[in-house]
Amino acid sequence: MNFQYRSGELFCENVAAGGLAEKCGTPLYVYSKNGLLAAFHEIRGAFSEAAPIVAFSVKSCSNLAVLSLLRSAGAGFDIVSGGELHRVVTAGGDSRKTVFSGVGKSDEEIRRALETDILLFNIESEAELDSIQAIAAAMGKVAPVAIRINPDIDAKTHTKTTTGKKENKFGIDFVSASRIVRNIAEQPNIRILGIAMHLGSPIYSVEPYAQALDKASDFIREHRSPRAQFEYLDVGGGFGILYRDQTVPTFKEYADVISPRIRGTGCKLIIEPGRSITGNNAVLLTRVLYTKDNGTKHFTIVDAGMNDLIRPAMYDAYHFCWPARSERTPPSYLFRSPDAKDYFSRETPGTTGIHERGVDADGFRLTNVVGPICESSDCFAGNRRLPIMERGALLAVFSTGAYGFSMASCYNSRPRPAEVMVDGSEYREIRRRETIEQLTDGENLF
Ligand code: LLP
Repeated sequence: MNFQYRSGELFCENVAAGGLAEKCGTPLYVYSKNGLLAAFHEIRGAFSEAAPIVAFSVKSCSNLAVLSLLRSAGAGFDIVSGGELHRVVTAGGDSRKTVFSGVGKSDEEIRRALETDILLFNIESEAELDSIQAIAAAMGKVAPVAIRINPDIDAKTHTKTTTGKKENKFGIDFVSASRIVRNIAEQPNIRILGIAMHLGSPIYSVEPYAQALDKASDFIREHRSPRAQFEYLDVGGGFGILYRDQTVPTFKEYADVISPRIRGTGCKLIIEPGRSITGNNAVLLTRVLYTKDNGTKHFTIVDAGMNDLIRPAMYDAYHFCWPARSERTPPSYLFRSPDAKDYFSRETPGTTGIHERGVDADGFRLTNVVGPICESSDCFAGNRRLPIMERGALLAVFSTGAYGFSMASCYNSRPRPAEVMVDGSEYREIRRRETIEQLTDGENLF
């Protein structure tokens, strides 16, 4: 990880977090350029035997600077909307390495993607295929398509991020996929070039990939024909990262189950990692506005809210938090800290009793880190043991590079935060803080 504490101060590469917060204000997303590149190269290296297209999942972190950085390192892109296609094109992305997933592609989005000559439409229903056929025919084009199958595999992720089970809206069951291949002659403007899947996110075991790929391989063997060549097998993303104390398979371990199975199919591999590239390469910096104790609970009220980072509110996601300036080494596995185990074992999730308040023998205070949004779910860390922080203290919320800014909103009419990228001792603002005036841009009185 390219975030470290040096003499009690958090640094991103060689730039102090405190200085960035002073210059750029808070809340502030801070990305490590070299961390992003290292993660990209690491994943590509682990899969090198299969020489995959690494289609970075734009939804995880869609800032143009991030996209253009990964493009220059050789990435392709996984997109799910016309907006993401626009971002890829603007960042100079290679459309021939771009795959388009999503259950609800609009006609306009399909048209744009055909104009841009993307590599694959990962289709998610027979109805969508009919639309693509009609639009491609009208444009005099042939649409390259992969069938996104739903392998009905439980990837054991949060229910809100599981995508590969029968009850999920994603993908196409094998029976319907088989019908599509059998009837492909009726779709003259479609070329079936691949099979795609995405099982969920994050997946902390290699097993679901193995199971799904075994099913997909059987399908490919049984259905390959001149009109359905299956040149590509896209396994999606979902590779896990360390947030708290998970056991995370290495990229090599994922590759060891995926690559041999791909070899067996004769397909070219596509992977769509998002979180595993960006997740641990950014922090969200936020400043303590107030603290209060209501006799039952202690609250640390910070200037970032669930509009800036929605993962805790939406998925009960755990993000390690620690003051950006602290004499204590952060007791986190993220920092390979020896006291991480003890720290986590003494957390008391869900407890609110008055006896847990106050400062314990180690000088930690049991507090609730909450934001300014008018919802009780606006809580980054419930009942967390943290060093004592007062107004003005800077807090870092870790592992926020993926689905952090990209899921930010203006809820409560709050301008979205700025983003900066650090490269060694330099940094650049890669997104200006939104202004109050921008909030009402495009609105009219009536
Ligand atoms: N490919 C497809 C088709 C996807 O739907 C996704 C993520 C990915 C790739 C990238 O998955 P990753 O490598 O990042 O795990 N907002 C949630 C995660 C939603 C994931 C949606 N799909 C979160 O904050 O945990």
